[in-house]
Amino acid sequence: MTEIAQDRLLIIDFGSQVTQLIARRLRELNVYCEIHPYQNVDNSFLAEFSPKAIILSGGPDSVTREGSPRAADDVFTLGVPVLGICYGQQTMMTQLGGKVESGHGTAEFGRAFVAPKNDGLEILDGWFVEGDEQVWMSHGDHVSEIAEGFDVYGTSPNAPFAITADLSRHFYAVQFHPEVHHTPKGAKLYENFVKLSGFKGNWTMGAYREKMIQAIRDQVGDKRVICGLSGGVDSSVAAVLIHEAIGDQLTCVFVDHGLLRKGEAEEVVTMFRDNYNMQLIHADEQELFLGELEGQSDPETKRKIIGKLFIDVFQKHADTIDGAEFLAQGTLYPDVIESVSFSGGPSVTIKSHHNVGGLPEKMGLKLVEPLRELFKDEVRALGRELGLPDSFIGRHPFPGPGLAIRCPGEITRPKLDILREADAVYIDQIRKHGLYDDIWQAFVAILPVRTVGVMGDGRTYDYACALRAVTSVDGMTADYYPFSHEFLGETATRIINEVEGINRVTYDITSKPPGTIEWE
Ligand code: XMP
Repeated sequence: MTEIAQDRLLIIDFGSQVTQLIARRLRELNVYCEIHPYQNVDNSFLAEFSPKAIILSGGPDSVTREGSPRAADDVFTLGVPVLGICYGQQTMMTQLGGKVESGHGTAEFGRAFVAPKNDGLEILDGWFVEGDEQVWMSHGDHVSEIAEGFDVYGTSPNAPFAITADLSRHFYAVQFHPEVHHTPKGAKLYENFVKLSGFKGNWTMGAYREKMIQAIRDQVGDKRVICGLSGGVDSSVAAVLIHEAIGDQLTCVFVDHGLLRKGEAEEVVTMFRDNYNMQLIHADEQELFLGELEGQSDPETKRKIIGKLFIDVFQKHADTIDGAEFLAQGTLYPDVIESVSFSGGPSVTIKSHHNVGGLPEKMGLKLVEPLRELFKDEVRALGRELGLPDSFIGRHPFPGPGLAIRCPGEITRPKLDILREADAVYIDQIRKHGLYDDIWQAFVAILPVRTVGVMGDGRTYDYACALRAVTSVDGMTADYYPFSHEFLGETATRIINEVEGINRVTYDITSKPPGTIEWE
């Protein structure tokens, strides 16, 4: 468990789809919080975590079902403010002696309006000023009898106890979801809750940076750390932060597998070696990777070859660093959250994501993960705080297997060269039109077909390519970006004029699902 913040709020997760949004709202208020699944939060966990306040999230189960999730007993005896949301509200009432029922007239989904009842509730400061408040409901059951000590402060047509509170114990319970956008005054409710809980709202990136630097020094001591640097935002920010903490005790390894974009290797090496004066091994392993990939066209085989070679190469170079005991990784908070699975079914592997999990054990290394507490946009804020240029911080994600998965079918050097050129023109177009920051990810894929064209008076027989650009919040779902026809036409013309080897340009308008972002 981390010790980076003294004042911490605990979110107990009962499996709601929007639990992460609760954390977002709190982080926006500069309050440090952690989400933990209810199964992990027992009384001893609570004692160790020592939260200043607790939020019980929503969830898909019904408290009327035997064996359904409950909060640990001490949640209600610690003496700290507790806010129960939806399922959290229902389990709170049940555990404190109230009643929940399901059946006809207990459900409410979507927009609802809550009318005030009684006033003077601090958590509702700023509410009901102009009448009833819009909230977002998503419940099958509702509370039918409140626990002793509670009073009603808001009602909706199907939730007579939409807002209740026990003022003497600082327990608050709402049936709706204040964390979602469709509860317009939801952010205000969280603001009031953290204020009445005594949070100072002083969890800033500057404070995080200072605390993490000290934490890294304490963890590493005088030992050495190695860090796989890809040039992506996460590993770059992690490397700069660790470098600030321990200087030359850090060595970064940048593996060039020959599947990088135009100018990428030089950019990353110059940036970190020359500007940051970091110890950096530039492992030029293009021959090895492209040699092993020769003749391979199956997507999973390609991914597996790259993943394995990456680990081999990394290990080979890491072995040359004397006394390395730690491996740095840019793991983010969403990767850390153990989500509560209610479905129980194993999920299907769509793609073998390239990762170096397993490497620390294999090499006997301990992990340094200074970004474990952060969301992606917070990593960017930390990067800015550390002085990384915007061109690095705002970069679109780039997958570990690189251009290999943007070159369906067999990978050849000429195809990779064509792809690099086309991609550079496309990104240049996007930047020139001021669209880069509106797009989650944009790239070109070179297709394994050649088509006939006419240029000047001659026949051409060259490759076709596909442009891809998507909007997304987390890469899990995505929609294609609605470029104007003018933009697409201009870009196609530029690519065909400027890139030898391509005579046809298409635009991929598949969303995810059913497509994926990458082509392989
Ligand atoms: P897909 O293609 O699965 O991609 O829709 C979702 C996001 O993940 C990135 N991606 C990867 N990132 N190693 C990575 O580090 C990988 O093997 C990998 N495969 C896909 C992809 O670029 C997109 O942002």
